[in-house]
Amino acid sequence: MARIAVVGVGHLGESVLTGLLRSGIDQDDIRGIELIPERARDIARKHGIDCTHAGLADARQADIILIAVRPKDVRPVVEEIAAGPVNAVVCTLAAGIEIKAVEEGLGGGPVVRAMTNTASAHRQAVTALTRGGQVRDTQFTAVKTLFEHLGSVVEIPEEQQNMATALAGSGPAFLYYLADAMAQAATEYGIERKDADTMVEQMLRGAGVLLQESGEEPSELIGHIATPGGTTKAGLSVLDDRETSNVIRKAVLRTAQRSKELSAG
Ligand SMILES: NC(=O)c1ccc[n+]([C@@H]2O[C@H](COP(=O)([O-])OP(=O)(O)OC[C@H]3O[C@@H](n4cnc5c(N)ncnc54)[C@H](OP(=O)(O)O)[C@@H]3O)[C@@H](O)[C@H]2O)c1
Repeated sequence: MARIAVVGVGHLGESVLTGLLRSGIDQDDIRGIELIPERARDIARKHGIDCTHAGLADARQADIILIAVRPKDVRPVVEEIAAGPVNAVVCTLAAGIEIKAVEEGLGGGPVVRAMTNTASAHRQAVTALTRGGQVRDTQFTAVKTLFEHLGSVVEIPEEQQNMATALAGSGPAFLYYLADAMAQAATEYGIERKDADTMVEQMLRGAGVLLQESGEEPSELIGHIATPGGTTKAGLSVLDDRETSNVIRKAVLRTAQRSKELSAG
């Protein structure tokens, strides 16, 4: 297996390395580089991997460098990587950071842009990949295989990455927003929060599996639940009255727009 370095072991970085370890990748083949010393120590102890806070020399030894720092920190990280000899393919996970910006920071070299999410910890992520022009076939295959260990992979042109950010990256937050509002309504009805959470969690999981497995469109699945004059229709009419579909559409488009703004710096 390729040696992997995760630079920035925050929420996303830790999710990715957790998923990779759960997929059976050897602890010796993954290392972390995390700026906060206590966090680096915690990560090393918790996952049984090397995790340093002392610069990026370790990352240069890897075959694949995953950059999971915040967008504003990508450029300095890339420039620090480029300060020494590096043979790795560099894969950036940050929202809104374009391949050409990473290539420039590196002074040229193989770069893959990836948008994934924190379900990678449970190997249930979806990752959108875009291959830079200097990436060899073997390098791209290695990166793709890595993300396949974390869930599903789609390959997209870079101009679609802002929308992939809205769907794959930020999308789970929109579902959690919905989950929280539904559980909140249940507590107002007198149901204990833990019972409400259990119902909502399993309902979301089941709905996701059904959507994936049935081969039916969301609108068709709604049709199987919402009978005329029934309970679901009553609830849907509240959503329709407030044009909720349009509100969700706007939220997704605004997220993609923000990703585009981050590209502009
Ligand atoms: N969270 C998500 O669900 C998600 C989903 C898709 C994409 N992303 C992308 O993933 C990236 C990380 O997001 P996050 O939520 O994981 O952020 P986060 O929790 O803040 O993690 C980033 C970590 O990287 C560290 N760091 C910064 N500069 C570093 C350096 N030079 N060397 C080593 N470590 C460094 C940060 O330390 P300091 O706090 O000291 O700066 C922090 O611990 C972002 O670019 C975001 O767009 C996140």
